[in-house]
Amino acid sequence: MEKLLIKGGAPLKGEVVVSGSKNASLPLLAAALLAGGASVLRGVPALRDVKTFGSLIGNMGAGFTFEDARAEINTAGIGNFAAPYELVKTMRASVLVLGPLVARYGRARVSLPGGCAIGARPINLHLVGLEKMGARIQLEEGYVIAEAGRLNGASLYFDIPTVTGTENLMMAAALAKGTTVLENAAREPEVVDLANALISMGARIEGAGGSLIEIEGVDELKPYSYDVIPDRIEAATFAVAAAITQGDLLIRNVRPDHMDAVSIKLRETGAEVARTPEGFLRVRGTGRPKAVNITTMPYPGFPTDVQAQFMALMSIARGTSIINETVFENRFMHVPELKRMGADINLKGGLATINGMEGLKGAEVMATDLRASASLVLAALAAEGQTVIHRLYHLDRGYERMEDKLRAVGADVVRIS
Ligand code: UD1
Repeated sequence: MEKLLIKGGAPLKGEVVVSGSKNASLPLLAAALLAGGASVLRGVPALRDVKTFGSLIGNMGAGFTFEDARAEINTAGIGNFAAPYELVKTMRASVLVLGPLVARYGRARVSLPGGCAIGARPINLHLVGLEKMGARIQLEEGYVIAEAGRLNGASLYFDIPTVTGTENLMMAAALAKGTTVLENAAREPEVVDLANALISMGARIEGAGGSLIEIEGVDELKPYSYDVIPDRIEAATFAVAAAITQGDLLIRNVRPDHMDAVSIKLRETGAEVARTPEGFLRVRGTGRPKAVNITTMPYPGFPTDVQAQFMALMSIARGTSIINETVFENRFMHVPELKRMGADINLKGGLATINGMEGLKGAEVMATDLRASASLVLAALAAEGQTVIHRLYHLDRGYERMEDKLRAVGADVVRIS
């Protein structure tokens, strides 16, 4: 199994180019199922999750090609409406095919995602929403079996703002009969990107980016040709990399307006974060970071997907910081691994108290989930000596050529098998 070997200590300097957003690409690929013919998505990152999604829709009979960041999905041959367990278990976002399949084809058989390392992560809100729109849903042997005639618009309220839930129901509502109102909807930039692509397909959607989205269903949608937004989580990871190594990075292909919470918190630690006239982000470390508290929240709050990376930074901060994880109850799998590198962290429920150390030491550590692995990479870049990160496949789910990008700005990092 592949590992990453990192010798820490080098300040990262230079330019990095962020890839297209994984979490925006997956719903956009699913949205192609809503139309007849070929949709084209550009800027798609070459990640395992994207390939898995390709297999998933290929398995349904759709054509899928992916080259040079361009994905083409042709729905002409679709004849199988199932998402099997083997694919769904490796990628929870597979559930995003449910809304489009039910809305356009009137049926779907999608495996339940099952338990996940970062918490229970149910999909009850997706299912309740589809039922309110008229779908008949049964759970059988770990599968969601859904059937429907044409869906009807409905007034839906999310008990918790769910990102993929909002996306699933927005896609379903786009082809429903009548108007759907989504209240307490997720406001993430990826939801807005999906809404923009749907609008380009002929959907009538208002309010995406706010917590109330109104969708007036149409009879038919046409395929899209669309450019996905940059990955704000990858950009944030590089921003922390600059701060934690006392480096100076120019981060290109970024939407600074999607990164306000992270930028503000990084500035509080003492890092310089500036938007350049070209619209890039420049981040510079200015000495040992100051301890800063964070609470993860749905957008525009501080993203849970950057919590682990920020904790690596706080591990070497001056003073004590508290990280309150409110989105996923069990998203602290990186803590024991950071401790192996010398971090002083105490966990109590969703609260982590981090007593900043002067430095970390290289160690053998294990990646446990996607963002936890990014946190270990960051800690290793700042640590004294060598770190070996095992189970690299977690990192590869969400970061495109991360070690190449880091090496190009001065990191001592190699992948070995
Ligand atoms: C998405 C992101 C993931 C990110 C998360 C939160 C994708 C592919 N993944 O995941 O990277 O960490 O948003 O920003 O976009 N919940 C329910 N019932 C439901 C659905 C969700 O109780 O039916 C709860 C979850 O357990 C969690 C909270 O709602 O506590 C938010 O989860 P959600 O926004 O749905 O996360 P995902 O869409 O799975």
